[in-house]
Amino acid sequence: MTNKLTWYGHAALGLETGGYKLLIDPFFTGNPAASTSAEAVEADFILVSHGHGDHVGDAIAIAKRSGATVISNYEIAGWFEKQGVAKTHGQQHGGGFKHPFGYLKLTLAFHGSALPDGSNGGNPAGFLLTTNDGKKIYMAQDTGLFGDMKLIGEEGLDLAVIPIGDNYTMGPADALRAVKLLEPKVVIPIHYNTWDLIAQDADAWAKRVEKETKTKAVVLKPGERYSL
Ligand code: NI
Ligand code: MN
Repeated sequence: MTNKLTWYGHAALGLETGGYKLLIDPFFTGNPAASTSAEAVEADFILVSHGHGDHVGDAIAIAKRSGATVISNYEIAGWFEKQGVAKTHGQQHGGGFKHPFGYLKLTLAFHGSALPDGSNGGNPAGFLLTTNDGKKIYMAQDTGLFGDMKLIGEEGLDLAVIPIGDNYTMGPADALRAVKLLEPKVVIPIHYNTWDLIAQDADAWAKRVEKETKTKAVVLKPGERYSL
């Protein structure tokens, strides 16, 4: 079984695992880096890390069109239900659940989570997925550096997807420190170059990662994918 992770630009990810299609933080409309559209993507499950507009994105429209289940924290899952999304699943930090596509745990994230209409979006999250074939994938989404990344790393990560854009999330220097705590086999940077404010040289960062750690750094262009 192969797991295919696609970076659609910004923090939007697609993951194909065991025949299931997952979308993570599907922000396409208004995303200058988007490599696909809300109309074109397919999804069985949509994972929303926190309430900000660049992560909720097109999730409502995609869920209504595709019938996908939206998975997020309890507050955000309830908000999606109020927007008319038929299938939602709320979890909370530290809590895992065995979904058809694998075991998904919500992790800490240091960030905000207000929803686009000002509703309470609970606390922001990252995702730790154990696929049905045993691969561990950590998608940090929006966060600053935190020491408990060490605990996430202790699970033995095959892949970590982390932000490097700075200003709203970790920048390159803290993201390098995050790699040292997480010790994943492979790291993929996201949440950069969407706008000038978060412009970064991902190739230079990747070189530093490979010089200072044992982790392989894979820099994708929007629309490219990595298989594991
Ligand atoms: Ni955010
Ligand atoms: Mn963001």
